[in-house]
Amino acid sequence: MKSTLDKILQKDVFEKDEIIYLLKTEGEERKLLFHKSLEIKQEFIGNKVHLRGLIEYSNICSKNCLYCGIRKENSRVGRYTMNNKEVLDAAKFAIENGYGSIVIQSGENSSPSFVQNISGLIKEIKAIPDNKPGITLSLGEQSEETYREWFNCGAHRYLLRIETSNPELYSRIHPNDANHDFGKRLAALENLKKIGYQAGTGVMIGLPFQTFEDLADDILFMRNMDIDMCGMGPYLEHSETPLFRFSHLLFSRKERFDLTLKMIAILRILMKDINIASTNALQSIDKIGREKALKVGANIIMPNITPLCYRKQYFLYQDKPCVDEEVEECKACLDARIRFSGNEIAYGEWGDSKHFAKH
Ligand code: 5AD
Ligand code: SF4
Ligand code: FES
Repeated sequence: MKSTLDKILQKDVFEKDEIIYLLKTEGEERKLLFHKSLEIKQEFIGNKVHLRGLIEYSNICSKNCLYCGIRKENSRVGRYTMNNKEVLDAAKFAIENGYGSIVIQSGENSSPSFVQNISGLIKEIKAIPDNKPGITLSLGEQSEETYREWFNCGAHRYLLRIETSNPELYSRIHPNDANHDFGKRLAALENLKKIGYQAGTGVMIGLPFQTFEDLADDILFMRNMDIDMCGMGPYLEHSETPLFRFSHLLFSRKERFDLTLKMIAILRILMKDINIASTNALQSIDKIGREKALKVGANIIMPNITPLCYRKQYFLYQDKPCVDEEVEECKACLDARIRFSGNEIAYGEWGDSKHFAKH
């Protein structure tokens, strides 16, 4: 007689209740889930890890997401925007050190000067001779026109997390106004795909009010959207945010960490050839959290290459890792860590989503 778990793991498509079953596995069954997801990663991706140098361009944000430390109304944050030279220097560091791609991330800003400045930066980075890096943007919701402009300048991937696929939960973790609308987020994601970006999304795991059903729906959402990349991480409470007062409802940090590993494993089994990030938030809970995620299906790491003076001001969540380490330190540290986890950094490669190449 096959066990329930064996039967589920043999399938290529999971029903919602099967995903919930997998999210709740413990002990030997949990190990079998991780064994399966690693096997699939080895077969479809191998043990190569691709790096994306993360540039936290600006912490000025027009939004007020109830969970985020740099929300507009948090007056304790000193606001900054990197100047163009600082961005170009960071991009050059990435190129010289074989990080095949960079990610430009920022608080949400749709002002014409911001849009124009990003366009200029993308072009300048693309004009750096030799080894042009792949450019991923993570700049929130923008008009279709802006997305198109940046795409035409040379950005080819975009990360826009849906945060949760449950519209009701979305409205509980965001202010209820037109600026924080689930429908708009969804439409933005659709626009990115239509324009031709490799599109990535993701969710936070272990939010207050979130259920196992929600998490299972998140996985199905990503599959139905046929995304190319995913970045998801544990929710980490931040004392200077409105959602903090619901912290008594949370799973322990360790449980949120474990749920994130299971989400990564299940997504890898369902979406075999997409890029899945081992997010930095994992390292806030467990010192070798990112390595653990590589062992259950993740294949992307985003080392922070923001100048040190700004890193502490980009505090989306507390206990952010690598805020005191110079970029060189992170590089050496990561190389050793990734090798130790049985993986290998693919220096100098873009590492595009294999999934994208197929469609
Ligand atoms: N905990 C975990 N992740 C967070 N983010 C923002 N605030 C938090 C938090 N408190 C994530 C969101 C956002 C990304 C840039 O950072 O998912 O999309
Ligand atoms: Fe701004 Fe993003 Fe934070 Fe929301 S999650 S407040 S959009 S930086
Ligand atoms: Fe930043 Fe280890 S990766 S210090």
